[in-house]
Amino acid sequence: MITRTLGTDGPTVSALGLGCMGMTASYGTPPASAEMIRLIRHAHDQGVNFFDTAEVYGPYRNEELLGEALAPIRDKVVIATKFGFQIDTAGRSIGTNSRPEHIRAVCEASLRRLRTDRIDLFYQHRVDPDVPIEEVAGTVADLIAAGKVAHFGLSEAGAGTIRRAHAVQPVTALQSEYSLWTRHIEAEILPLLETLGIALVAFSPLGRGFLSGAITDATQLGTQDFRKNHPRFQPEALAHNRALLAQLATLAQELGATQAQLSLAWVLAQKPWIVPIPGTTKASRLAENLGAANLRLSPDMLAKIDRAVTEHGVQGARYPDQL
Ligand SMILES: NC(=O)c1ccc[n+]([C@@H]2O[C@H](COP(=O)([O-])OP(=O)(O)OC[C@H]3O[C@@H](n4cnc5c(N)ncnc54)[C@H](OP(=O)(O)O)[C@@H]3O)[C@@H](O)[C@H]2O)c1
Repeated sequence: MITRTLGTDGPTVSALGLGCMGMTASYGTPPASAEMIRLIRHAHDQGVNFFDTAEVYGPYRNEELLGEALAPIRDKVVIATKFGFQIDTAGRSIGTNSRPEHIRAVCEASLRRLRTDRIDLFYQHRVDPDVPIEEVAGTVADLIAAGKVAHFGLSEAGAGTIRRAHAVQPVTALQSEYSLWTRHIEAEILPLLETLGIALVAFSPLGRGFLSGAITDATQLGTQDFRKNHPRFQPEALAHNRALLAQLATLAQELGATQAQLSLAWVLAQKPWIVPIPGTTKASRLAENLGAANLRLSPDMLAKIDRAVTEHGVQGARYPDQL
C-alpha cells in the first residue's frame, strides 16, 4: 500500500484510510461487532494503518470497537478520533461543545475506550460558535504537551478558523467532505491547506456509497439509514444524479476499474497530501476500494471525469439542514 504523510510533521499513513462510522451508526442496522473487529484487523493485514472514528459515532460504541480491534496492534496504527459534540444521556448529539473542560473530559474518555495512552490525531468535529478557536487550539496544545494527543485536526472548518487555529497550534489535518460530487472546498480551502502544509483527510469520498453505483433506488435504504433524509438521495435528485453515474461507469469500464475505484483514484489524484477514508462494513468492498491506490488516472482521463461531473451537475444539498 502506498503511503502519504499528514501535514508537515504528522504521521505517515496508508494512502487510503478506513472510515469506521458505518460500523456502528448512520447507514442502517450495523453488523455484529465481532465481524467488524475482524474487518478492522483484516484491513490492517491489507496495508491500512489509518483508522477514523469519533466519540459521537454510536455514540461511544465506535471508539470501543476500534479500541478492542486495534489493541493487539496499537503501535502499528494511527488512530484519529474527534471531540466537539454535547451528547445527552440518551446518546443524542445535542449541539456543539468545545469548551476546554469538555475537550479534556472527552480526551480522557476516548483514551479509555480506545484502550490507549495517546490519540494520534484529535479533531474538533465541528466548529463551536460559542468557543473561540484559539481556546480550542490552546486546549489541544496542552493535551499534546501532556503526551495524551499527538496531532491536532479540524473538521469542516472554514478558512478563517483554520488560519486562527494554526497560529496557536499547528493543524496537521483538516477532515472535510470531498469527492467527485462534493467539491466546495476546491476554491479556497485546498489552496490554503497547501500553503499551510495541512493534509486533507477526505470523508465520504464515495459520496456515502452513491458514487460506487450500488445505490439505484432510494427504497433500498432502510428506515435507520441517514441517507433516507439526505437531499441528494431523494427520488428526483437521485434520478438526476444517477444519470451522471452512467457516464462515470463508461469511463471506469475504459480503465478496467469499478466506479468506486475510479472515484477514489480521482480523489487521490487531486493532491499528494489528500488521504481519503472510505467506509465499508464488507471485506470484498474493502479489497475493491484499496485497489484504487494502484489505479493511475492520466491527465486525459482526469479531464474527462471532470468534464462529465461539471457538465452534468449534482442535484441536492450535502446535508438535510441545507435543504
Ligand atoms: N468529519 C465528519 O463530519 C465526517 C462525516 C461523515 C463521515 N466521516 C468519516 O468518513 C468515513 C467515510 O465516509 P462515509 O462512510 O460517510 O462515506 P463513503 O466512504 O463515501 O461511503 C460509505 C458507504 O459506501 C458503501 N461502500 C463502500 N465501499 C463500497 C463499494 N466498493 N461498493 C459499493 N458500496 C460501497 C458503504 O456500504 P457498506 O458498508 O455496505 O460497504 C457505505 O454505505 C466515515 O466512516 C467516517 O469515519 C466523517
